[in-house]
Amino acid sequence: MPKQPLRIGLIGYGFMGRAHSNAFAQVNHFFPLEHQVQLQAVCARDEAKLKEFAGKWGYKSVETDWRKLIARDDIDVIDIATPNNTHAEIAIAAAKAGKMILCEKPLGLNGPQAEKMVAAVQKAKVPNMVWYNYRRCPAVTLAKQLIDEGRLGKIFHYRAKFLQDWTINPDLPQGGAALWRLDVKAAGSGVTGDLLAHCIDTAMWLNGSIDTVTAMTETFIKERKHNLTGKVEKVGIDDASAFLARFSNGSLATFESTRYARGHKALYTFEINGENASIFWDLHDLHRLQYFDHHDQGRVRGWRSIHVSDGDHPYCGNWWVPGLQLGYEHSFVHQVADFIKGIETGKPAGPTFKDGLATDYVTDAVLKSAKTRKWEKVKKTR
Ligand SMILES: NC(=O)c1ccc[n+]([C@@H]2O[C@H](COP(=O)([O-])OP(=O)(O)OC[C@H]3O[C@@H](n4cnc5c(N)ncnc54)[C@H](O)[C@@H]3O)[C@@H](O)[C@H]2O)c1
Repeated sequence: MPKQPLRIGLIGYGFMGRAHSNAFAQVNHFFPLEHQVQLQAVCARDEAKLKEFAGKWGYKSVETDWRKLIARDDIDVIDIATPNNTHAEIAIAAAKAGKMILCEKPLGLNGPQAEKMVAAVQKAKVPNMVWYNYRRCPAVTLAKQLIDEGRLGKIFHYRAKFLQDWTINPDLPQGGAALWRLDVKAAGSGVTGDLLAHCIDTAMWLNGSIDTVTAMTETFIKERKHNLTGKVEKVGIDDASAFLARFSNGSLATFESTRYARGHKALYTFEINGENASIFWDLHDLHRLQYFDHHDQGRVRGWRSIHVSDGDHPYCGNWWVPGLQLGYEHSFVHQVADFIKGIETGKPAGPTFKDGLATDYVTDAVLKSAKTRKWEKVKKTR
């Protein structure tokens, strides 16, 4: 039987545009699906660079205005891989046009904006997903399986960190290509919406919803030259953010993120401590899951380092032979595979826009608490 085409219209050809394109190109090679992904069109504003990108990755056509891309009737899925301040407008227009939507994280610049995006996809009844890709690193998915099987028992603690060091130089400008993350108008916030959003999505997936938070943030470099205006302007993002949280299941949490941890490039780690077992994961060693089971016989009890690459580990049976590890890019391939399976089975895979909104509610409460210096309640999705 010929496969049904799934025609992608990608917006943005930067870091994530490449990660997504690689996932679209690989998914049918490794996962049995009824749909065949087609790289139909890519959109960005610089036509020359766009054509070069389209040629390299095999996109059939280009558009320099995302509105024209959305209006095309030969596009099934709009994939949003542009800076945060563009997500809402594009997603709401794509939903109105009846397109399926894949949107980069964070979903909106804040909760109220993300609410409109959720309302738009719910009204249009279109499949939707947010690219919180770390859920689909096989070791993280294995952690989810172990927790859901009840192996950890009652959970006491959740501890997450996401540390980088690339903005320590005060001469680094803000705004424009790649550096839009330092410009609060384009990014919405600093490490809270960028890095902690990943930690929060994983945490709520593994350990349930968060009720209350108390936070502190800091902007170490107060002014930077803006690439678009050429002027030295106030920096509006948080360079570092740390918060305490209480989960609905009674467990306590600490979260920390910074771009000023000299020596750390993308050190995303989390640890969960339950009454029977503990789990630790580290993005720099992403194919391993550290697992301690108190039920093990005392003399040999200790932390196990599970090399997550065997045929019965999540996603691994679709790839190589046991022992050959998977990396960062595979998490995106897995996400596309699950999105398509969701369309085919009618059981949507998460994180959906509603899940993305739940994360935006937590980051809103964190940023509010950093200002009020009080514990803040996290709004819940309906
Ligand atoms: N899931 C992850 O792990 C992860 C990692 C990095 C970035 N992100 C998210 O992905 C998004 C993009 O980040 P990035 O690192 O790829 O950024 P980037 O700067 O590398 O690329 C952004 C792209 O968007 C294009 N663009 C900007 N405005 C546009 C417009 N109005 N119309 C069309 N194209 C436009 C730019 O030309 C560029 O190609 C952000 O929301 C970011 O938070 C997610």
